[in-house]
Amino acid sequence: MPVTIGAKPAGDFSNPMELLSDCHRRIERFLAVLVKVAGQAQGGLMSAQQKEEWLRALEYFRTAAPRHTADEEESLFPRLRQIDRRQVQDVLAKVQELEHDHLQANDWHEKVDQLGRRWLADGTLPREDAEHLTEVLDQLTALYGRHLALEDESVFPLAESVLPAAEKSSIGVEMAQRRGLDPQRTLKQASELGAPLK
Ligand SMILES: [Fe+2]
Ligand SMILES: [Fe+2]
Repeated sequence: MPVTIGAKPAGDFSNPMELLSDCHRRIERFLAVLVKVAGQAQGGLMSAQQKEEWLRALEYFRTAAPRHTADEEESLFPRLRQIDRRQVQDVLAKVQELEHDHLQANDWHEKVDQLGRRWLADGTLPREDAEHLTEVLDQLTALYGRHLALEDESVFPLAESVLPAAEKSSIGVEMAQRRGLDPQRTLKQASELGAPLK
């Protein structure tokens, strides 16, 4: 059975831009879970199902989401910066904002994680903390709303069209390695699945 990231086969490492957008859908999904549970329970006792959903979403943002940030900051953005074209320079100005967003999102996720784990450990959250948690989740929702759209609509399509095939392949390899997967194996699976390297 192929190694998977989310619901997609590892063969998608041959198409890193698509994989990065898939990560965005997971960010949206898990953030929506946090918003939903925080709104339903409002710092009170959570049901067993709410606890399970909450824990899973916190875990996602603690472990998987930072790898997505690294995919962008360490694999994608530096390669875009090497392309000397006017069109790329315009988008690169926005990349600085995106990196700033990553820092801001990290801070907010740390706060959510801290309050979220305390909620699970204590069973309830003081009203002030519950309100602060909702506030931070609202801020994250607003940040991701514009951040993910900018990446999905501007940065990734541009990268797809301007980066040479070898660079895109290297991004896929680095993304696989970041997840502790064997890139040769995942890329071989990709070609066996009829998904040639781009
Ligand atoms: Fe990003
Ligand atoms: Fe992203």
